[in-house]
Amino acid sequence: MIKLDHTHVLAAFHRYRTDAPHWRKTAIVNTICAALEIHAQLEEEIFYPALRAAKPTAIAIDKSVPEHNAMREHIAKLRTMDPMTPEYDDTVMELMREVIHHVADEETILLPMAEDILASELRRLGARMNTRRLQLVAGRPAEIAVNSAGAFPILALSLASLTLLAVLAGSRNIAQAPGGVR
Ligand SMILES: [Fe+2]
Ligand SMILES: [Fe+2]
Repeated sequence: MIKLDHTHVLAAFHRYRTDAPHWRKTAIVNTICAALEIHAQLEEEIFYPALRAAKPTAIAIDKSVPEHNAMREHIAKLRTMDPMTPEYDDTVMELMREVIHHVADEETILLPMAEDILASELRRLGARMNTRRLQLVAGRPAEIAVNSAGAFPILALSLASLTLLAVLAGSRNIAQAPGGVR
């Protein structure tokens, strides 16, 4: 699920064009920012603590939250900027570089570590993250729907697919729980 989120955000970055109309640039960037904020919050609330509990000495986890905070600073800056300026394009590119670097670290260090030391917990953690994602998306539905549909129809479909998957996973977990529906 974490890798799928990374793929969707990087795909959104690849749709950004410096010569696009302002409404499209804004919609793409807003979509990226919302996806990054939700993803970072899920990792900080659920994934990183589980990893840290299983391996307190893992230094790679320590730099993840500061990297998220650096992304949040760029996101806050972008929200105050005029999309038709070169500075806006530069800031989008800076954010993209940060995300690529961060994603590379997570996918080559943290995720293999998680698969190794949290193997038996991954399904439960994934279900918790899906449930939390639905809560976070539900808190900003209009923003996500407008920006995703206007800027990135594929991501809008992906969000819908993820939501459907999350609902299906949730109902499967309920069905598999002791006393659950079978
Ligand atoms: Fe991530
Ligand atoms: Fe992260």
